[in-house]
Amino acid sequence: MKIGVPKEVFEGENRVAMTPDSAKMLQKLGYDCVIETKAGAAAGFSDAAYKEAGVEVVKTAAALWKAADIIAKVRPPTDAELKRLSADKTLISFFNPGGNEAGMEKAKASGATVIAMEMVPRISRAQKMDALSSMANIAGYRAVIEAGNNFGRFFTGQVTAAGKVPPAKVLVVGAGVAGLAAIGTSTSLGAITYAFDVRPEVAEQVESMGAEFVYLDFEEDQQDGAATGGYASVSSPEFREAQLAKFRELAPEMDIVITTALIPNREAPELWTEDMVKAMKPGSVIVDLAAEKGGNCKLTVPDEKIVTDNGVTIIGYTDFPSRMAAQASSLYANNIRHMMSDLTPDKDGKINHDMEDDVIRGATVTHQGEITFPPPPPKVQAIAAKPKAAMKELTPEEKKAQELAAFKAQTKQQFTLLGVGGALMLLAGLYAPASFMQHFIVFVLAVFVGFQVIWNVSHSLHTPLMAITNAISSIIILGALMQIGTGSFLVILLAALSIFMAGINIFGGFLVTRRMLAMFQKS
Ligand code: NAI
Repeated sequence: MKIGVPKEVFEGENRVAMTPDSAKMLQKLGYDCVIETKAGAAAGFSDAAYKEAGVEVVKTAAALWKAADIIAKVRPPTDAELKRLSADKTLISFFNPGGNEAGMEKAKASGATVIAMEMVPRISRAQKMDALSSMANIAGYRAVIEAGNNFGRFFTGQVTAAGKVPPAKVLVVGAGVAGLAAIGTSTSLGAITYAFDVRPEVAEQVESMGAEFVYLDFEEDQQDGAATGGYASVSSPEFREAQLAKFRELAPEMDIVITTALIPNREAPELWTEDMVKAMKPGSVIVDLAAEKGGNCKLTVPDEKIVTDNGVTIIGYTDFPSRMAAQASSLYANNIRHMMSDLTPDKDGKINHDMEDDVIRGATVTHQGEITFPPPPPKVQAIAAKPKAAMKELTPEEKKAQELAAFKAQTKQQFTLLGVGGALMLLAGLYAPASFMQHFIVFVLAVFVGFQVIWNVSHSLHTPLMAITNAISSIIILGALMQIGTGSFLVILLAALSIFMAGINIFGGFLVTRRMLAMFQKS
């Protein structure tokens, strides 16, 4: 079968659904590839590059739609494109099935199979096909870059001869895929970054990226509606009020606000109100990623950049991935390639449309003359959804019982350890000389204290811990040097061995540190 990629017809769309690299992979699945001339030009992929990758280049869209059995594209098909579908064709593309009833009817009437890339369920197995996530990742990154472009100051704080520059303060609202990408970009540029999300489980991810999670003074959990299918649900009015109150408090302090809050199949929740914009400092920037769905900010104008009377820039562009077309095309083409791989289990260049497969079923919106949207919920758990038992609120009695059980288990373990230790000491006391016992007790105490100290150090502090163990090693070397002159062969041997082992720790530590530092050095 032939996979064809037309040039995108949506005005300003620079992405393309196949790159020369992805074409090579598709050919390995047994497909022939065809592309409309200049389809990849805006994303930086020339016809020559496609030809070199074994792709046929045709002159017109009509020739392409005729030649291809499977058509892959980025933007939802136009009416003219839908007319080109027929029962023997499969279209893989963003389709916006929720708001494209007419398009679905036309696709159904043609008998074609349509796979909507935004419908790929958010389950672990489907991550490689999750085009929404790969595009949102780019949008999050680009949002920060765009904000920086419109912000008159540095992100990072600096102390220069010409004066002190305070770091910028960035607030990211919604820590999903786009939000986390924005947080990562903002912290790596050196801004003080805060993030808020209704799903408390993302707090750890936010903090691990160097940002501060904004908690609410709210009696319920951060989120009253638990995560479903990896997405958030609607908040209660009280929760929303608490959230807005917090934002009002933060607004005068923030230099940049990036909003990404989204609840699937709904208009974007309005979270940054007019009075918050008014409270911001002149020169501040808001980037509203949810502009296409109505915007999280009251004043956002989709596809435009406006400057308010108080000097706040509000950016409502809806085409961030297209503004990074080379990167976006590579990732999207990979998503398509993985989808094709799932559709071609035998790698024989033929589609096997298995409607029992969660991912294929979820993404298929028309098949064999039927509309198959909306799909049933996937049989497997979504990535971010917690198991029900874990989400269940425990009663105080249950909590107490749980704590008691944990305490009992811990005490039992400690008593066993003490028992074994005591028995060993008794044995040593009976048979070993008194001087040995003295050293042995010091040794046991050192092991115990060392274990307690090191075990309780959090993972993030293991690097400084390494420095401390280096200090301990130097104490060991000092001790060994003091013992080396005692004359006993055994003591000299043990002392030499201690020096050797402590040396490994010290020099090994230096070596590892050098390698780690080299990783951060620009070549
Ligand atoms: P996502 O579903 O992964 O993340 C949305 C996050 O918002 C979730 O973590 C959710 O818990 C959170 N959220 C929902 N309601 C909230 C509330 N009231 N307060 C705070 N957080 C709330 O979505 P993803 O993929 O990160 O996309 C984010 C937005 O970016 C979407 O609106 C999407 O359409 C948009 N987008 C925009 C692009 C552009 O060019 N402008 C390109 C790609 C995506």
